[in-house]
Amino acid sequence: MKLIKPLLGFATLGITGAALFVYLGAFNVAADEHHSKPVFKVLETVRERSIATRAQDIKVPPLDDPALITSGGADYNEMCAGCHLKPGMEDSELRSAMYPQPPDLTKVKRADPAQTFWIIKHGIKMSAMPAWGKTHDDQRMWAMVAFLQQLPRLTPAQYQILTARSEEDTDGHGHGGMEGMDTPGDARDEGHSMSESSSARMHGDTEQTAADTDTDTASAAVDSFLKALATGNEKEAEKWLAPDVLIYEAGHAETSRAEYTAQHLKGDIAFLSKAKMERLERAGNGGADIAWVASRSRIHGQSAGKPIDVLSTETMVLKHTSGGWRIQHIQWSSADEE
Ligand code: HEC
Repeated sequence: MKLIKPLLGFATLGITGAALFVYLGAFNVAADEHHSKPVFKVLETVRERSIATRAQDIKVPPLDDPALITSGGADYNEMCAGCHLKPGMEDSELRSAMYPQPPDLTKVKRADPAQTFWIIKHGIKMSAMPAWGKTHDDQRMWAMVAFLQQLPRLTPAQYQILTARSEEDTDGHGHGGMEGMDTPGDARDEGHSMSESSSARMHGDTEQTAADTDTDTASAAVDSFLKALATGNEKEAEKWLAPDVLIYEAGHAETSRAEYTAQHLKGDIAFLSKAKMERLERAGNGGADIAWVASRSRIHGQSAGKPIDVLSTETMVLKHTSGGWRIQHIQWSSADEE
């Protein structure tokens, strides 16, 4: 009983002190005056515990679908890179002036994708991290989460490819949901741009006349690569690929030449060396440094002992190097011939 009075006295003193601290403006809210270490630690713990508690029941969809990754990439580039950077960008004026500073997402990846999703959707109070859930649907935010899983591994060239917005996206389609984001390349490419067209550096087809022996074209590089696969020449096939080539094939992604040679090169050779490939259409365009070549072919072959007859769509992006054209990106998809 005797204790109550002094305790009340201390409590009153504490509250008055806190009120004075606030009222007199003793706390410095300036962004260029950082929190002391203990305060920072408390705030960090509050943030992490809050996120972990709220994200624990979120179910994570499959995040390795290339179409999902690509559509998230374009959004990331437009809405996030200014604060969270991109490969090859050391810092931004905006980011360097902020406190808390936005983490460099090309270097760090949160281990738990559910937490990443929660942060993107709800934002973080008293920091500049916006809540994107007010303006974006869940699927679009999961696409960004999928992209963030890849981001720390990407080179500047791969980043450029993965964040390019396709025509359909800018038309306002393309974000209809996961079903709408079928492997780009099959249905998408049929509608447009597959007409026979050629630019200065392109050959419409493989047939070349004597006067037309310029082999330094993007299209010729594509053909040399395919021929190397068909004839089982691994070394030659490798030669046409940029070291950081990005390859999308039937739902899986490989992010370097080394990864492709270790994983699917042999399988592709085994398949193509026995298959008959008939080119149906070829289109392409580009400038002196970057070109794209899209082809549609019919392939008769054998897969797992069964005869198959498929329509294959292939899009390649090439870069001109001192050694000639090199393939920087390949997207292969196929559909059963009806
Ligand atoms: C105006 C600057 C700004 C923009 C734009 C921005 N963020 Fe942030 N973001 C921040 C800041 C600041 C933090 C750190 C907050 C903290 O530490 O409390 C953060 C934190 C994050 C984190 C948590 C990182 C971690 O693991 O702790 C993720 C994930 C993230 N942002 C994703 C995104 C995505 C995706 C976008 C684009 C849709 C985006 N941000 C746009 C400022 C920004």
